Amino acid sequence: MTGKEFMLAAFEAISHNIIEHEEYLNHLDNAIGDGDHGTNMARFSHIILKDLPEFSADHDDLGEIMHHVGMCCITEIGGSAGPLFGKFFLQASLSNKNNTFMEAANWVLAFEEGTMGVSQIGQSTEGEKTMLDALFPASRAMQETLEEGKSLPEIFLAGAEAAEKGVEFTKTIQASKGRAAYIGQRSIGHQDPGATTVMLMLQSMHKTAVDMHVE
Ligand SMILES: Nc1ncnc2c1ncn2[C@@H]1O[C@H](COP(=O)(O)OP(=O)(O)O)[C@@H](O)[C@H]1O
Ligand SMILES: [Mg+2]
Repeated sequence: MTGKEFMLAAFEAISHNIIEHEEYLNHLDNAIGDGDHGTNMARFSHIILKDLPEFSADHDDLGEIMHHVGMCCITEIGGSAGPLFGKFFLQASLSNKNNTFMEAANWVLAFEEGTMGVSQIGQSTEGEKTMLDALFPASRAMQETLEEGKSLPEIFLAGAEAAEKGVEFTKTIQASKGRAAYIGQRSIGHQDPGATTVMLMLQSMHKTAVDMHVE
């Protein structure tokens, strides 16, 4: 079971990880897009590091904290990733309204609902070389690991590993959504930046769960 302390630590770890990879994410986006994905995500991360501790000082509702992160994505990230990650967190927040604690099952459900939200708003699905190529496989892997009765660190690890495979898969396919679709076949061989961000997020969730010894 995890509470506010874990959620804050997880968003802090995610933010630092993204900031560390800002140039790398820009470099990936440069090859198939407009080179701003790292800058977009880092701007959001800096805001989260500053704002989330303040916001959560007066809020114990984990759904409300996730909702706040979603709104921050929409207002701060910009581009297509802003509304997409925004929708992810807004949708993930819904089933955690009024929750001050989250069990492993709550995390897995939140992740699944967030993924469905991205798919809906992006009018996209797996195999189009987007963040969904990391989100969908990670969501399935987390569900399976939950059903096996594994702990939260193991669930996040399974999600992170599936996302990593999804990122590798994006190198092999042609983009049919987002800016990368404009370059058609030339997108093959390049890795999707948004899927890479999802992988970084899950790696940070896993590391935080291990460091904080959550169950
Ligand atoms: N329709 C979509 N559905 C899901 N993800 C998408 C879609 N369009 C773009 N993306 C994701 O957004 C990422 C690009 O984000 P970013 O560079 O920040 O925005 P922009 O493309 O506006 O410059 C892509 O790598 C891809 O993962
Ligand atoms: Mg871009």
